[in-house]
Amino acid sequence: MKTYVLNPGNDLSALQLTERPRPEPGPREVLLRLRAVSLNYRDVAILRGTYGAFSRPLVPVSDGVGEVVAVGSDVQRFRVGDRMIPSYVPDWIRGPPREDTARRRLGGPLDGLLREYACVHEDAGIAAPPHLSDAEAATLPIAGVTAWHALFTQAHVGPGDTVVAQGTGGVSLFVVQLARMAGARVLVTSRSEAKLGRALALGAAEGIHTGTHPDWATRVRELTGGRGADHVVDVAGGDGVARSVEAVRMGGTVTLVGFLESATVRFDIRPALSRVVRLQAVSTGSRDDLEALARALTVHGVHPVVDRVFPFAQAPDAFAFLESGAQFGKVVITFP
Ligand SMILES: NC(=O)c1ccc[n+]([C@@H]2O[C@H](COP(=O)([O-])OP(=O)(O)OC[C@H]3O[C@@H](n4cnc5c(N)ncnc54)[C@H](OP(=O)(O)O)[C@@H]3O)[C@@H](O)[C@H]2O)c1
Repeated sequence: MKTYVLNPGNDLSALQLTERPRPEPGPREVLLRLRAVSLNYRDVAILRGTYGAFSRPLVPVSDGVGEVVAVGSDVQRFRVGDRMIPSYVPDWIRGPPREDTARRRLGGPLDGLLREYACVHEDAGIAAPPHLSDAEAATLPIAGVTAWHALFTQAHVGPGDTVVAQGTGGVSLFVVQLARMAGARVLVTSRSEAKLGRALALGAAEGIHTGTHPDWATRVRELTGGRGADHVVDVAGGDGVARSVEAVRMGGTVTLVGFLESATVRFDIRPALSRVVRLQAVSTGSRDDLEALARALTVHGVHPVVDRVFPFAQAPDAFAFLESGAQFGKVVITFP
């Protein structure tokens, strides 16, 4: 079978296409023929060597969907012909994260899904929602689950709440769609006027251009009558976390998700202390979160936002496009 691997190196030339034997499923595994994978910022950061040192060669990419083409002798949850979405953290089935269940992750340290076939334990995935295309179904495990876990598992976002989504990448557009689904009002920040227009069309109530409003927290306070937002999902990290703290109401929540700006966060803690702001780190979520997300998308008929789809042969171009920051939502690679 054809597979991409990351070889040593920190640029796109480290991503190489090669041949490996097709794997055989064990008694409780299914054999998936991959149909689509989606990229996350993590995939680029691993390639660049800024996300920890996983041993190489490594099959990259955490998220995807495939068709079950064979099942092991003891498999009960899936049949040949089903579409399965593997969980990014295969051992985390439900409940809070634990040391022993959070360690193994697809796309590093475990081999990922940018390959024609993969064996997956039957417990480590869910059935893909029928209303989603392959490209859409491939976007759920990291971006969708992280947004779900941030809004509903760690917090209880509901009608009447105001949520701030930062930028218009994969996680943030799921935040927009899921918070809207829960009846919340969503404010979106972006560096692009055109992307803000698209976010409004997706259901955001207001867009804040960070070029026009570099101090976007002040704008959030204006748009909330001085109260502040209930919840900010921070994907940028860096010194900007101070603005997220400033943007939330007394007792509000800042979810720390990402580090697009910087992985080093420095801010004056006093505003957070005096306004009793809850700072909540999130590291994706469990299979239960993935299942709950899939159910909600099905019930509401919501489709994740896929910006561009690249063919398998052009996977390096997909990585380059994600890294450019030009995307609105998810970047997907489909298989022949
Ligand atoms: N903790 C977790 O479980 C978890 C899960 C998923 C992702 N993450 C992390 O969350 C971050 C976002 O991931 P993603 O996959 O959603 O990324 P992505 O799809 O690549 O999104 C990038 C978008 O964020 C905005 N952006 C880029 N640089 C920015 C900056 N310096 N400040 C503010 N906004 C910026 C841009 O939107 P505009 O052009 O509209 O401004 C860009 O399109 C990454 O750091 C990733 O590692 C963490």
